[in-house]
Amino acid sequence: MATLKTRDLVKRFGHVQVIHGLDLDISDGEFVALVGPSGCGKSTLLRMIAGLEDVSGGQMWIGEGRVEHLPPQKRDVAMVFQSYALFPHMTVRENIAYGPKVRGEAGDKVEESAELLNLTPYLDRYPRELSGGQRQRVAMGRALQREPRLFLFDEPLSNLDAQLRVAMRAEIKALHARLKNTVVYVTHDQVEAMTMADRIVVMRDGRIEQEGAPLAIYDRPNNVFVAGFIGSPAMSFLNGRIEAGRLTLGGLSIPVDTREGAVIVGVRPEGFTMAGGDTGLEVEVQVIEPMGPETHVLANIVDRTLAARSGGETASDIRAVLRERVNLGTGDRQRLSVDPAALHLFDPESGMRLAD
Ligand SMILES: Nc1ncnc2c1ncn2[C@@H]1O[C@H](COP(=O)(O)OP(=O)(O)O)[C@@H](O)[C@H]1O
Ligand SMILES: [Mg+2]
Repeated sequence: MATLKTRDLVKRFGHVQVIHGLDLDISDGEFVALVGPSGCGKSTLLRMIAGLEDVSGGQMWIGEGRVEHLPPQKRDVAMVFQSYALFPHMTVRENIAYGPKVRGEAGDKVEESAELLNLTPYLDRYPRELSGGQRQRVAMGRALQREPRLFLFDEPLSNLDAQLRVAMRAEIKALHARLKNTVVYVTHDQVEAMTMADRIVVMRDGRIEQEGAPLAIYDRPNNVFVAGFIGSPAMSFLNGRIEAGRLTLGGLSIPVDTREGAVIVGVRPEGFTMAGGDTGLEVEVQVIEPMGPETHVLANIVDRTLAARSGGETASDIRAVLRERVNLGTGDRQRLSVDPAALHLFDPESGMRLAD
């Protein structure tokens, strides 16, 4: 196993630059998720690490050795893709053993990895006789035939249905805990990144926006983009104003310790609570989603000057996740309080987090 380091890594396709001077440092045995919206350069970066894509500039090390100009087979990495690329005319056993066979090796790890991946009963089946999750495990079994210095995954769970995705994400995490291999895992799904990785690298447009432990990013996003991207359901954004050390939001007045003036206020869904009387932020309920353990309230803010929806994905201004069951319906007015500890304040011009 090995470390991975890049310095000022650049990729251009013709005149279009898609990776803008990336510095990555991945420790031995670490599970790092590269996460970001579609098109931000995740696959390109992973393919550059694997040697499947030339670098346009910068340096890369795997372990102690410089690798950016080495061909893929000399880098000693294994890659699992979104499409599993199994041979349809070969059994599970033959698919897993294919790599060692073409390399003229014994392939004596086939049984062992089949056991590890719960594939032993299926070794003599063909890919068409397997479920999506089993095919995905075969693709991983193939990657495990070698002891590569780095495992690279490119959205390996995207083709699976929701239930299997949840099961496989736990399996891959458990596998990593046992093998302690170095993993770079690409996904556009921030839930996968949050739940699986030791560390998340959030990318946008070929640049790193923030990196850190999942909950460290969740608790202290550097900017509005990361705040809106990490966390499910997403953070809600409001227009606020700070005067004389207090943040005013509709009927709410909250003491804060930062600069005065206009701010973007981010509130995590669990930061809202029901308020009584005429204090709090007045909203009009759009949709109630009873989840069982919690209730999701999608609502619009009555005072439109406070609405600061970011991105086009949300159908309502805010989403509150309440622990209790509520007696509310579409069109009802309700007042909400905000837990001061769940507030995130950003500069409206730069989008950056305000110092506190
Ligand atoms: N072979 C290529 N030629 C030209 N542009 C490419 C090529 N591969 C990727 N791109 C562009 O590079 C950007 C990043 O793509 P990609 O790495 O696939 O993003 P992601 O995996 O994050 O969705 C996109 O704008 C994409 O259109
Ligand atoms: Mg991709």
